[in-house]
Formats: sequence, C-alpha cells, structure tokens
Amino acid sequence: MIDIQRIGVIGAGTMGNGIAQVFTQSGFDVRLVDAAAPALERARTTIAKSLEKFVEKGKLTPADRDAALGRLSSGTDVDALADADYIVEAIVEDAGAKRDLFARLDTLARPDVILSSNTSSISITTLGAATSRPDKVLGMHFMNPVPLMTLVELIRGQATSADSMQTATALCGRLGKTAIEAADYPGFIANRILMPMINEAIFALMEGVGTAEAIDTVMKLGMNHPMGPLALADFIGLDVCLAIMNVLHDGLGDPKYRPCPLLRRMVAAGHLGRKAGRGFYPY
Ligand SMILES: NC(=O)c1ccc[n+]([C@@H]2O[C@H](COP(=O)([O-])OP(=O)(O)OC[C@H]3O[C@@H](n4cnc5c(N)ncnc54)[C@H](O)[C@@H]3O)[C@@H](O)[C@H]2O)c1
Repeated sequence: MIDIQRIGVIGAGTMGNGIAQVFTQSGFDVRLVDAAAPALERARTTIAKSLEKFVEKGKLTPADRDAALGRLSSGTDVDALADADYIVEAIVEDAGAKRDLFARLDTLARPDVILSSNTSSISITTLGAATSRPDKVLGMHFMNPVPLMTLVELIRGQATSADSMQTATALCGRLGKTAIEAADYPGFIANRILMPMINEAIFALMEGVGTAEAIDTVMKLGMNHPMGPLALADFIGLDVCLAIMNVLHDGLGDPKYRPCPLLRRMVAAGHLGRKAGRGFYPY
C-alpha cells in the first residue's frame, strides 16, 4: 500500500480549509491549491484561528500548532500537486468544473495516487470516468465544520476498487474520524436522508403547520436533534440545499423529492441563510 504523507487539497473555501487543517493537524504535509489567491489568504487565517481555539481549550500545544502551520503550504498552481500521495478535491459543486479538474489531475498525479472528491451530491462514477484510473477515484465527504465533525462518508463509485476504499478508510482513522461507506446514488446516505427532512420542514412552514421556531423546537426537544432543520438549512446555505434537492429529484425521479416552492422562492430572493444575513431567521 502507498505510504501517504503529502496531501493535496484543491479548493480553499469553507470545506477545503477545514480539510487542509485536519490533515496538517494530524501530521501530514499539506499543499492547498485554489484558483483564487485571496481564498488562500483567507484559508490560512481561518486555519490559524481554528488551531488557536484548540490551544485555548488545551487540546493542542502551541508547539504543535506551530508545527501544523509549518506543514501547510499553498499556491494557485495545480501542477504543484504532482508529488502528492493523495488528493482531495473541494472546489465548487459543479459537475463540469469537477470533471475538468479530475481529467487534469489524472495527467499530473502519479498513477498510484487516489483522487477523492468532497462533493455533497455529484456522481463519483462520472468523475472517475473523466480519468484513466476510475478504480482510484472515490468520494470523501467531510462534514461541516470539518475540524469538529467526526464523520466522513466514503463513496464508492461503480469502478472504485476495494483497495482504494481501504486506503481511504485507514486515512480517516489517522485523522481521528470514522469512515462510513455509501454507494454512489444521488445524495449518498447523509443528504439522501437529511435533505428531504429539511425540505419537509420547509413545506410544513409554507403550509402554516407551525412557525419556524415551533418546527425547530419540536425537532430539538422532541427528537433530540442538536439543531432544528430550518436553522440547519440556514447554516448549510439555502442555495446548497436547493442544489442537493435538485440532484435527488433529477437522479431518483420521485416527486417526493421535489424542492419546496418556498425554498426556491427564498433562493431566488437571495435569502440564502447565515452567509446572506437572512434566511428562515435573521442574522
Ligand atoms: N459547505 C458545506 O457545508 C459542505 C459540506 C460538505 C460538502 N461540501 C462540498 O464541498 C465542496 C466545496 O464546498 P465549499 O462550501 O467549501 O465551497 P466554497 O465556495 O466555500 O469554496 C470553493 C473554492 O473552490 C475554488 N475553486 C472553484 N473552482 C476551482 C478550480 N477549478 N480550481 C481551483 N479552485 C477552484 C473557489 O475559488 C473557492 O475558494 C463542494 O463540492 C460542496 O458540495 C460542502
């Protein structure tokens, strides 16, 4: 089995910076790449702040924080990933952009290197088909916020090999995370179950079954969820929720997955949740 030490992470947004952080915190050398230089600047600041919080809580020593930051390098050139032992893609949720990137990574990474995607919903089999190594393409779906959430959903494409899945599972163990395997169907496990629940909560709000506060409180106090579904939708981003519902609806063809008209209306209005300062709640 390949000895994995150098990790390439592409996309330095919300997820990419969290993924880079957990790898560097676990002793790996990380090369973080983004097409936009300002995103790399922001990522380094976010990672430094997050590591600082671990130090304040006594979960990381200042020396380990400095060492972690020292193992992190960044740049805008994907070619710098030619010597990576394992690659995680976390760019925008766009099938065409991801397919182009996987085709490029296939030409520059060593043939034994696994190319993984953090996609929430795009078919891993399709990404694998853009490469000459579909047996070494898999989904590595981290949860937000990555440094705190212990689950990684590993998605096995139609052609992904058992060896690749084993390598990814072992890697999750080295990050202190629990890997769960899912097959390559729309939404995998996490979003196949979570998003219809969120969508149904939005239908309940639209139909006046309860206020946003009532719906969230029922799920928090009655079902022991740490966060109500509408507050969670605001946290994820309503545009992201709509995109995933569309993938479920298109991919599974069942009307039960149709996105709620209120969700569509809020996205059209730019009320995207926390990041927009406005969603089911004001921020
Ligand atoms: N946000 C979440 O809660 C969440 C959770 C799980 C999975 N995901 C998935 O993770 C991926 C990234 O999501 P995010 O929320 O971090 O997005 P984001 O918009 O915060 O960041 C995406 C980054 O990718 C960069 N980028 C875009 N195209 C690129 C390219 N071709 N080459 C290099 N860099 C490029 C952008 O400059 C940006 O910095 C998506 O596939 C998303 O579905 C998101």
